[in-house]
Amino acid sequence: MVSTTIPMFITKDPETFIDMLKTLTAEKTGFEKIDLGVGILNILKKYPERKNILIALKEQFKQLPTSYAKLHYYPIHAFYFVNKEGNRQAIKYEWQPIEGTSPKNSEANITSADYLSEELHNRVKNGSVSFDLIIRLGCKNDTTDDPTDPWPDDRQKLVVGQLTLEESLFPNEPILFDPTIVTEGIELTDDPILHFRHKAYAISYNKRSKNE
Ligand code: HEM
Repeated sequence: MVSTTIPMFITKDPETFIDMLKTLTAEKTGFEKIDLGVGILNILKKYPERKNILIALKEQFKQLPTSYAKLHYYPIHAFYFVNKEGNRQAIKYEWQPIEGTSPKNSEANITSADYLSEELHNRVKNGSVSFDLIIRLGCKNDTTDDPTDPWPDDRQKLVVGQLTLEESLFPNEPILFDPTIVTEGIELTDDPILHFRHKAYAISYNKRSKNE
């Protein structure tokens, strides 16, 4: 469940996303030289209907987050929960921090490039950090193939699990975060971004773990 802290993605299909990345970096002469301001303006000119997500991003960064333990996380795509009779219910996940379970904010040193990981590490040393796993139940006409559509706010919510972080682990093996790996009773929707991520993350994993 790779998640972001805003509930929607910027495009409905991978081709548009790739074109946006090309637009963003069109004027670059090296990674350090990308002018993100110009790139974002060029994306807006070409895709004015995507203004809402750029506004959501801007809102979120008005104030820097002080802790990973206080943010909400959205895996974005719809999935199906399937019962024994084969009936399918579309859902979207959300991780919601459980207030009060976490030890007091350890001073976040925002001058450090990795201050959020450091802050979480310090918190977990002093106690645990918990999140509720929530599902929102989609209604009949809610989209299941469009990650730019976060669904209306009033959808029924159910708490179906809880995640508690008790210690920081640094795995020796590289991990593949493929969002299409699901367990029995859960099925993938036709979201083209979700299926494209399966291939893209495998390529990235191979590059960083096996130098392919
Ligand atoms: C066509 C669309 C997308 C492409 C091509 C893409 C591609 C990638 C790639 C190649 C990585 C590095 C993976 C690795 O090495 O393990 C990555 C990481 C990531 N992606 Fe995407 N992605 C897409 C859509 C999304 C969406 C919809 C989300 C929202 C949930 C998302 C959230 C993330 C996050 C949070 C990471 C960092 C994971 C980590 O901490 O290692 N991506 N993406």
